Amino acid sequence: MTRCASGFAMKTCADQRLPLRIRKAREEDVPGILRLDRALIRHDRRFDPTLDPRWSSRPAGRAFFRDRIRGADGAVWVAEVDGKLVGYLAGGCCEAEDYRRVPPMAEVDCMFVQKHYRGYGIGERLLRRFLACCARCGVGRVRVVACVGNSGAIAFYRRLGFEPYDLVLERELSAARRRARTPSTAKRAPQQRQRKPEGVE
Ligand SMILES: CC(C)(COP(=O)(O)OP(=O)(O)OC[C@H]1O[C@@H](n2cnc3c(N)ncnc32)[C@H](O)[C@@H]1OP(=O)(O)O)[C@@H](O)C(=O)NCCC(=O)NCCS
Repeated sequence: MTRCASGFAMKTCADQRLPLRIRKAREEDVPGILRLDRALIRHDRRFDPTLDPRWSSRPAGRAFFRDRIRGADGAVWVAEVDGKLVGYLAGGCCEAEDYRRVPPMAEVDCMFVQKHYRGYGIGERLLRRFLACCARCGVGRVRVVACVGNSGAIAFYRRLGFEPYDLVLERELSAARRRARTPSTAKRAPQQRQRKPEGVE
């Protein structure tokens, strides 16, 4: 691999030069975040065709990010390069199933880094900001749900200490397939019911 004068691999050098800023999202970032979220859904639909491609364009999508940004039960961070949003992470508190004995939990709702900017540590920095916020708030366990076919994201999370926990299996029933399906807002529904512990920024 090509190395720069300091001995780091080129990607690391590029990372150091990248005029990158990770910051909490503001309400005026919502349109940009929704654009990134639409790209995430396009990306994830390769693995999960049940995802609603219009979710981010619906009021529910806008309301979800606006509420997260307002800090109702979590937060959103954005990655900015030269003032342009190139990535985001939304996350918040979640409740564990009541049959489990676990400390307070939080969940990464969704995260995305534009293809051109991947591999420069942006995803890691977004995730570490979220984990640090969780730790300050007394969260003891963090989860993320990834499509089972999304091996890239799974490798990313595993590298940062996440381990597989549950495996969800589904099957379709032929009668249900014929019925018109209402657009799903289930993707983020569990988080919308969650309460934020005291002290979440
Ligand atoms: C997952 C994602 C957010 C990571 O962002 P990123 O800025 O590229 O992440 P980082 O640069 O911090 O980390 C990259 C590391 O993660 C792992 N990784 C990321 N994508 C990978 C892939 N496709 N295959 C294997 N490992 C991968 C590798 O360890 C990689 O390190 P390397 O480049 O030295 O091999 C980004 O790839 C992305 O937006 N993917 C599409 C959307 C998505 O899957 N979101 C998650 C939904 S749950």
